[in-house]
Amino acid sequence: MSFVDIILKKKEGLPLTDEEIRMFAMGAATGSVPDYQLSALLMAICFQGMDARETTTLTMEMMKSGDQMDLSGIDGVCVDKHSTGGVGDTTTLVLVPLVAACGGHVAKLSGRGLGHTGGTLDKLESVPGCRVDLSEEQFIEQVRKIGCAVSGQTQNLCPADKALYAIRDVTGTVGCSPLIASSIISKKLASGAGAIVLDVKTGNGALMPTVEESVQLAKAMVDIGRKAGKPVYALVTGMDQPLGTHVGNALEVKEAIEILSGRATGDLLEISLDLGSFMLVACGQVSTVEEGKKRMREAIESGAGLRKLEEMLKAQGATADVCRDVTLLPQAPVLVPVPATRDGYIVSMDTKAIGYCTQHMGAGRAKSTDRIDPAVGLVMQVRLGDHVRTGDTLCMLHLRDASQAEPAIRAMQEAVCIGDEAPEKRPLVSAFVSAEETVYTKGYGPK
Ligand code: URA
Ligand code: CA
Repeated sequence: MSFVDIILKKKEGLPLTDEEIRMFAMGAATGSVPDYQLSALLMAICFQGMDARETTTLTMEMMKSGDQMDLSGIDGVCVDKHSTGGVGDTTTLVLVPLVAACGGHVAKLSGRGLGHTGGTLDKLESVPGCRVDLSEEQFIEQVRKIGCAVSGQTQNLCPADKALYAIRDVTGTVGCSPLIASSIISKKLASGAGAIVLDVKTGNGALMPTVEESVQLAKAMVDIGRKAGKPVYALVTGMDQPLGTHVGNALEVKEAIEILSGRATGDLLEISLDLGSFMLVACGQVSTVEEGKKRMREAIESGAGLRKLEEMLKAQGATADVCRDVTLLPQAPVLVPVPATRDGYIVSMDTKAIGYCTQHMGAGRAKSTDRIDPAVGLVMQVRLGDHVRTGDTLCMLHLRDASQAEPAIRAMQEAVCIGDEAPEKRPLVSAFVSAEETVYTKGYGPK
């Protein structure tokens, strides 16, 4: 069968055979199928979809397209967590040390910022000296020794996903549930995790804007996990505003340290406790999520979580003790407030626009070759539902250069919408999805 026949078949809405899907994944990994044919098939999949069998086969073939990590040298179940990507979403830096401080083993491969979303590797690199290019041996040794490591994926992990992701990014084919599910789960399976906890974001700053679509994506991933024999749990969580108050690389590290020190609370802490407690259940350290949350809160109070972060950063080469003194993190020279232009309630935020605003300031990349400025970003001073008066500060911009202030102020005043009526309050978690069940938070189930 020629590749054009596979494209035509999917264009007609017919399911592809396992062998055809294997040709697709291998063709992407080896470069034997040209990008224009891969693009055409990706677009056909966006329109026609893939059933559960096709999605699972694609995941397995992508996983097998490169190296697979062997974590069997680490005692107990290694648990991993993955977020579909958000703004001000620093849960990794909060929950990895907390879960490790509570006895869990976390071997986490993270990514760079993508589009409007931030990436954990870029955040870690804002810590002077911290490395995110650990070899497989160093990575495994560090998890054995201190219980956690966060590093970038090795060159040859899921090459099929690398090729397909680069094409999807520039052909409008990112937002497609079977493609997202196979992309994420193939990497998690190849990295050797024994159990996986997923944070599927929903809302205007997420890949999937509605709760229904996000639950569908979560189910697709949980089902692949079941077929692969790995427990996968997913929480569908809100991304209608930045999760934490800080957006930007060093700023997000600072917020994680403030939370682990017990000096800051809020939605970022709550979601980190939710996800982390499922990780502790998944690796058998606790039997209920309530117990997991209690143990994690104790690790904040005792300082064990902060000490674990310090230990991890040091193991990865950090030269400055930022956990004891956050002023050792890179700091932007220019601070400018963004004032509210009218009285009223914060009724909505264009979360994607807030992410792009920080990207334009230098916190993210527009092209993969762009250099990141670790110090820049913003700190939100309002949340949805807050009441403000004209002139009140909506957020503080942290800039490299005062000439960046004007466009950023305008972008933020447009992104934060002020109205007359207080908006309806939305829960942080709208659904929990496991292989056995989907539990919606009250009021969020299918009508
Ligand atoms: N993150 C991934 O790794 N892959 C996707 O397709 C989307 C988000
Ligand atoms: Ca991420």
